Amino acid sequence: MLREKLIKYISQHKTPFYYYDIALLQQTLNSLKAESSRYHYHVHYAFKANTNPRIIQEIERSGLGADCVSGNEVKCAVENGFDVSKIVFAGVGKSDDEINYALDKNIFCFNCESMQELDVINDLAIKQNKVASIALRINPNVDAHTHKYITTGLEENKFGINPYEFETVIGKLKTLPNLKLIGLHFHIGSQITDLGPFKKLCLKVNEINQFFFNRGYDLPVINVGGGIGINYQEPDKENILDFATYFKVFHDFMELRKNQELHFELGRAIVGQCGNLISRVLYIKNGINTNFAILDAGMTELIRPALYQAYHKIENISSSSTSTIKYDVVGPICESSDCFGKAVELPETKRGDIIAIRSAGAYGEVMASRYNLRDDVRSYFSE
Ligand code: LLP
Repeated sequence: MLREKLIKYISQHKTPFYYYDIALLQQTLNSLKAESSRYHYHVHYAFKANTNPRIIQEIERSGLGADCVSGNEVKCAVENGFDVSKIVFAGVGKSDDEINYALDKNIFCFNCESMQELDVINDLAIKQNKVASIALRINPNVDAHTHKYITTGLEENKFGINPYEFETVIGKLKTLPNLKLIGLHFHIGSQITDLGPFKKLCLKVNEINQFFFNRGYDLPVINVGGGIGINYQEPDKENILDFATYFKVFHDFMELRKNQELHFELGRAIVGQCGNLISRVLYIKNGINTNFAILDAGMTELIRPALYQAYHKIENISSSSTSTIKYDVVGPICESSDCFGKAVELPETKRGDIIAIRSAGAYGEVMASRYNLRDDVRSYFSE
């Protein structure tokens, strides 16, 4: 499938490059919209997953909101036509300039992550003569059972305000006239493939929602973040996430009052499967115990395997050999961690063969670097 679509690109273009299947992205967005609108849920696209202009345009067209974690992401959303009344801004370290920009644009909501941040946004809002709508990002202490670098909802993580701080926060809010508390925000981690943690999150959110209601806060917005994982093992079997089952968990376990909206911030589930990193084999090096396939793409183009020991399916899409050999598939960067997969079974592979590293649409291109003075990575699209 991927093989046929790629043939014309490979002959015309230098590798490595990202190759995005726009039709798959559109189908994913259609399914997401259909399943979320069943319950009137609001979905924001998590910009951090991929900010390739072509991808962003497609997502904007679908009408999703934007979840941003830097001033430049807010700017990117505004400049690409996202409705400012659907832009949320999270992050533990928002600078004054970033806050001022977002205030100036009248974004929907700041997801505030610490007590001190409340003071700072209030002060800056006073100077702009504005009232900032905020949600409290709460650390619910729910274990997402995912890689430790992408778990965010535990007390030991730097994110959010802890339940033991609630009374103090409520007291503080009464002294900050230029903040309007409109909601509660949660995000427990990323690449969560078991729905259990989301059910636990719902139960925790119900408790916290009730706590604030009892203190006189009838908050219209509950935002449960993102984090639903994709199938890296078999991308072709499940190239569009089962959004119906995912949203049903929230429908079944979340106790919302009539006036409350449920918001989501999905990144990986939207763009993960539509992107592939395409590379050529530069060298084959046969050792005594290990055979290496050395690619022209490395951790500079896709850092996930090196950083999180993440699995991406690797396919030789040009070989017609029927015998298979195990290779350590590595990149050209001067780091031993520059390895996409160990003992990967591939058809017999030779110099010049084309390798596709699958499911690379989320946190791939956007995390690329120019380490070793590498070229910027290019991207192409199939319609
Ligand atoms: N909302 C917040 C507050 C987040 O921190 C994140 C992701 C999301 C939403 C979107 O999560 P998603 O639906 O994409 O799982 N670079 C790592 C992932 C880092 C995720 C950071 N936060 C990776 O390559 O796996």
